[in-house]
Amino acid sequence: MAQRRPTTSTQIEKGSGLVDLSGVDRSTIPQSQQHSETVIDYPEANDETSVSSNATLRVTVYMNEVRGQRQELTFINREKIGQGTFGRVYRARIQQTNEICAIKEVEMEGHFKNRELEILRQVSHTNIFNLKSYFNRADNGHDVLCLVLEFLPMSAYMLIRNYRKQNRRAPLLYTKIFCYQMLRALGYLHSLGIAHRDVKPSNMVLDYDAGVLKLCDLGSAKRLVKGERSVAYICSRYYRAPELLLGCIDYSVAIDAWSAGTVIAEFLNGYPIFRGDDSSDQMYKIIRIMGIPTRDDIVEMNPQYRGDVDLTGVRLQPRTLQGYLPTRTPIIAIDLCAQLLQYRPSSRITCMNALATSFFDELREQRLKLPNGKPLPPLFNFKNIEVTQGTALYNALMPAWINGEL
Ligand SMILES: Nc1ncnc2c1ncn2[C@@H]1O[C@H](COP(=O)(O)OP(=O)(O)O)[C@@H](O)[C@H]1O
Ligand SMILES: [Mg+2]
Repeated sequence: MAQRRPTTSTQIEKGSGLVDLSGVDRSTIPQSQQHSETVIDYPEANDETSVSSNATLRVTVYMNEVRGQRQELTFINREKIGQGTFGRVYRARIQQTNEICAIKEVEMEGHFKNRELEILRQVSHTNIFNLKSYFNRADNGHDVLCLVLEFLPMSAYMLIRNYRKQNRRAPLLYTKIFCYQMLRALGYLHSLGIAHRDVKPSNMVLDYDAGVLKLCDLGSAKRLVKGERSVAYICSRYYRAPELLLGCIDYSVAIDAWSAGTVIAEFLNGYPIFRGDDSSDQMYKIIRIMGIPTRDDIVEMNPQYRGDVDLTGVRLQPRTLQGYLPTRTPIIAIDLCAQLLQYRPSSRITCMNALATSFFDELREQRLKLPNGKPLPPLFNFKNIEVTQGTALYNALMPAWINGEL
């Protein structure tokens, strides 16, 4: 499987004397380890495709993975809507069912399993986009895997950008609703031991009118196994947890909690909170707001870290989160960001516990509606794997008024 490789520079503010991260470099990761995540075996192909024009694609697939029920589907009005790092995404109508869907096409490299497909087949959650079907087709001699997904009209990136262009921020209620669903999706993945590893606004799709957000792009997701190594060069830079910037290779799902904190801050402010020019500048941008990590923080982030950390003589007044976020930002929002943006992964609040913080209390009010008068999307239909009934967390997440209704 192709690895997503963000930039690899790890010098922090060269010559600043702040923190020298030069001990961490891609080259320090043994070749064998860099490829330790490669998985083999090719997914069973659902072929028999023919592309009659760019706009129409006819294919026979298994729907909803029900074996034995092959169905011919014709995708019409196929139109490209997204070009990510690894995939092209199309919007199309399924002629036979009249449904609109998204098709994510990823070029397969050799006979490797596609991890996104593998994980999508294992998950099912209201806040993770649903895999309807998949098939392979040949395109100019390349083998292309096509994931047929439910379609949502915009990404959180577009939403934040649209408000920013008007010099506004997303209304606080929407920020709560969308961020809650992001944290729920992550909490669910984490309960399965899966880290998303590329949490950022463009990897969340949403239906603004319905107030629905779904996490997408599981192309970097991985089931993390204790003791097994994983690449540190993962996750888009602005959202990358500091332990990854320090080269940690046995990180936990807490890397997503950090990214979630940066996404909430971005909803509140309209811009990515830490905008580094490269990995080392990224660490510097974090330090500028969150303060200088202590030696103990660094040891916890990456016990293997061998870079010289010389903090003597550092004169830095951190800007603080409060100073960064707009003045009218409620303190409960700042608190939540602060709990997610902890240097030490073990001190970071988990995504499920974050749902219980008072920032989301408003969502638990009985008669709350979306500003357009529509009902809220499902927020409390927890599966046992997310939160076990009767526990303190369950009681905190489940509004008292709902019990009578379930
Ligand atoms: N199901 C979907 N519905 C609508 N838009 C989507 C959907 N999936 C992806 N997109 C759009 O396509 C873009 C690229 O898809 P993504 O899965 O993130 O690809 P990549 O792995 O290349 O980053 C996303 O940022 C999003 O804007
Ligand atoms: Mg993406």
